Amino acid sequence: MSLIPTLLGVTLHLLLFLHVSASHSGHLAAPRQKWPVPYRRYDERPDADSYCEALYPFCPTGDRDGRMPYLRETDRISVYRLQAPVWEFKYGDLMGKFHIMHDAVGFSSAETESNFTMEWYELFQLGNCTFPHLRANVSAPFWCNQGAACFFEGIDDAHWSQNGTLEKVGVITGDMFNAMAQWVQQDNHTGIYYETWAVQSHPGPDATVWFESFDCSQFVHRTYRKLAELGAKLSSRSQTNYTKVYLYSGEPTCLGNDSTIFGQPSMKNLAADIQSFYYTFRPHQSYVDLAFSLAEIYEKVVLHKNFYLYYNSEYWHLPMKPPYMQVIYEEVPLP
Ligand SMILES: *[C@@H]1O[C@H](CO)[C@@H](O)[C@H](O)[C@H]1NC(C)=O
Ligand SMILES: *[C@@H]1O[C@H](CO)[C@@H](O)[C@H](O)[C@H]1NC(C)=O
Ligand SMILES: *[C@@H]1O[C@H](CO)[C@@H](O)[C@H](O)[C@H]1NC(C)=O
Ligand SMILES: *[C@@H]1O[C@H](CO)[C@@H](O)[C@H](O)[C@H]1NC(C)=O
Ligand SMILES: *[C@@H]1O[C@H](CO)[C@@H](O)[C@H](O)[C@H]1NC(C)=O
Ligand SMILES: *[C@@H]1O[C@H](CO)[C@@H](O)[C@H](O)[C@H]1NC(C)=O
Ligand SMILES: *[C@@H]1O[C@H](CO)[C@@H](O)[C@H](O)[C@H]1NC(C)=O
Repeated sequence: MSLIPTLLGVTLHLLLFLHVSASHSGHLAAPRQKWPVPYRRYDERPDADSYCEALYPFCPTGDRDGRMPYLRETDRISVYRLQAPVWEFKYGDLMGKFHIMHDAVGFSSAETESNFTMEWYELFQLGNCTFPHLRANVSAPFWCNQGAACFFEGIDDAHWSQNGTLEKVGVITGDMFNAMAQWVQQDNHTGIYYETWAVQSHPGPDATVWFESFDCSQFVHRTYRKLAELGAKLSSRSQTNYTKVYLYSGEPTCLGNDSTIFGQPSMKNLAADIQSFYYTFRPHQSYVDLAFSLAEIYEKVVLHKNFYLYYNSEYWHLPMKPPYMQVIYEEVPLP
């Protein structure tokens, strides 16, 4: 899966951190902000810009129009929790060791004997969802950050069970499946942009959450919650952990969107700062050697404490705090 090949690269880039001056001009007097900032839903999904190029086609074996089968109400459908390490040739099974996992849900119909996989991932790979492109004649960083649901026939048992998890977590009726399918269409229509980072004030359960991520595992959680709401009983024999990529910061400040930041001469210092911040992380640069000294990287992180987060198509300034960034494989129980 293309999913997180870049993540390790990203991590290193991130830790390499910024040559950004601290002259962000933010601090607009806004009404009291609600935390976490609600993820923005849209009326419909726009076509992706032709500039964005997928390394792997999105959902190659799914239905062209994203249709899901209609199952009979008398059907009994087993639900599977699917999880596998993101495989990246270059890094071998390192991703598994760091618990960089991809999540999906499986369904198998007793009546039709067919089975299905459902997952949510980036249209243009994770690097493009996490960091934008700086284009010569476009001043605003350019994002290819759509994510979407993919539903296709078949479950690749070996892929999930060999180095990951394939576990039956419940049985639902055809009615529940059909209601869920409707919800998936709606969710897919309105939840358009991938958000890699979860941002909170510090590690641990008592932290203030500033932003929630919106990624493959969040889709799986929403699906389980929807099934539970429809009356499904789900349970697992083992701990259900998921990969989450955290940033830690003090209270974020909303800086504005493309037109407010990149369309107004008065904002040009901030615009330049954001450009130079993302220049460090441009998706096309080659991977930093893994042997890179972590100590050296850490020092740089401690020196500069800025992060410009792009969330809901707006930029936010994060005053970063130790431990700055973590990839955590943490438990989220089934509903
Ligand atoms: C997005 O990411 C892939 C793989 O990392 C890359 O090949 C592609 O050129 C990137 N750029 C765009 C604009 O999609
Ligand atoms: C979700 O949206 C994408 C992008 O439009 C589409 O390719 C996919 O088929 C849709 N998935 C479902 C399950 O509707
Ligand atoms: C950028 O400039 C080049 C050359 O002037 C032009 O061909 C291209 O269409 C421009 N791209 C955009 C997005 O304006
Ligand atoms: C899904 O269907 C395939 C093909 O019939 C079968 O090999 C596989 O074991 C099934 N997997 C599950 C989890 O039902
Ligand atoms: C499981 O991991 C091993 C090495 O750790 C690898 O050779 C194998 O291809 C992996 N299997 C799958 C299905 O990804
Ligand atoms: C950008 O923000 C301004 C000010 O909040 C708003 O008026 C404008 O509609 C926004 N533009 C887009 C494309 O959302
Ligand atoms: C799963 O998450 C729990 C709590 O978040 C943690 O204590 C445990 O170590 C995790 N398991 C693995 C295998 O990392």
